[in-house]
Amino acid sequence: MPPIQIKENIYWVGVVDWNEHDFHGYSLARKGTSYNAYLVLDEKITLFDSVPEKFKLDLYHQIRSLVKLEDIDIVVANHIEPDHSGALPWLMDRIKPEKLYCSTQGKAMLLDHFHQPDWPYEVVKTGDSMSIGKRTVQFMETRMLHWPDSMFSYIPEDKLLISNDAFGLNKASSKLFDDEHDLSELMDAASHYYHNIILPFSPLVQKVLARVSETWPDIDMIAPDHGVVWRSHVADIVAAYDRYSRQITGPRAVIAYDTMWKSTEKMAKAVADGMLQEGIEVRLMNLKAYHHSDVMAELADATAIVCGCPTHNNGIMPVMADFLTYMKGLKPSGRVGAAFGSYGWSGESVKHLNEFMEKARIEMVSPGVRVKNVPTHESLAECVELGRTVARAVKARIEA
Ligand code: FEO
Repeated sequence: MPPIQIKENIYWVGVVDWNEHDFHGYSLARKGTSYNAYLVLDEKITLFDSVPEKFKLDLYHQIRSLVKLEDIDIVVANHIEPDHSGALPWLMDRIKPEKLYCSTQGKAMLLDHFHQPDWPYEVVKTGDSMSIGKRTVQFMETRMLHWPDSMFSYIPEDKLLISNDAFGLNKASSKLFDDEHDLSELMDAASHYYHNIILPFSPLVQKVLARVSETWPDIDMIAPDHGVVWRSHVADIVAAYDRYSRQITGPRAVIAYDTMWKSTEKMAKAVADGMLQEGIEVRLMNLKAYHHSDVMAELADATAIVCGCPTHNNGIMPVMADFLTYMKGLKPSGRVGAAFGSYGWSGESVKHLNEFMEKARIEMVSPGVRVKNVPTHESLAECVELGRTVARAVKARIEA
């Protein structure tokens, strides 16, 4: 995909990764992604961000169709994760820029990753700025959003925010701008991305949103490092981040389960019946059919997470351990939950699920239900009652 002008003399020079489906354990749901970089043609030609090492020549050809690499004066590294810095050593050798702008932590990360003490680092802090000719670039550190080095760059003359991973989404497309897509589909992708990458840092998101709106009230374009450039729906994506980071949930529950000989699956369906009797929307997800990142995306607006798993070798099934570990790291807050599971002889799974979910800060509203071997009509009734208990807790949580 050739360079695309996003503002006068400002170009997207990124790369679309059509075939990437797994991103350090996060499923891209077979949608691919993009690594966005931006080139500003001003008195000082400035490159913002980079691409993975394997795409360095794609980036080169993008830039070369506009300028020679050695014409670039300044490089800005808003974020050092290798999907945005992998091509940097190759580029730095050829560009030999006057300055490489980064945050304090960004310099430390660049040194740790590439071991190049002689690069012309220029460390910037929140409030610092530089002139590149007709334009100014202003910087804001956004530590832990989502790495310690992360920062935003803002060009006030163009009302353009270059936001690294924030406001991104994963979607490989030949259409760069938000208004070339269906908005609800974009918002689903943005939510999926947020709830798998940004969620643990939600309290920081609130602070950064407040700081950005106070410092730069006139943003009319957001150019993230993944996905679409927001030009028609800036207010929508900012409002969505406000909503996501407050973890506002509704009368919904997710039942995530694994099953060996279908007993736990029968229990899952009975738990769902109990919730439906109380008027709560339910989403059942067999963890062998759904990736853990898709479950987290479904949990975005659900108030309850209920986990079901048979006992396996005195513990839980591996796919459930995988999901619980992943969920705990993403730190969802304000959720209620419960556990259930079948067993053949020892029956420890519900105990393990309860312990793990408590560590994930899920408020457990029941000791859970265990069923030996195959559930009877009576034991399924216990599962229905478990679903009703969780549903009542969901309603109480929403009304509180
Ligand atoms: Fe897209 Fe944190 O890298």
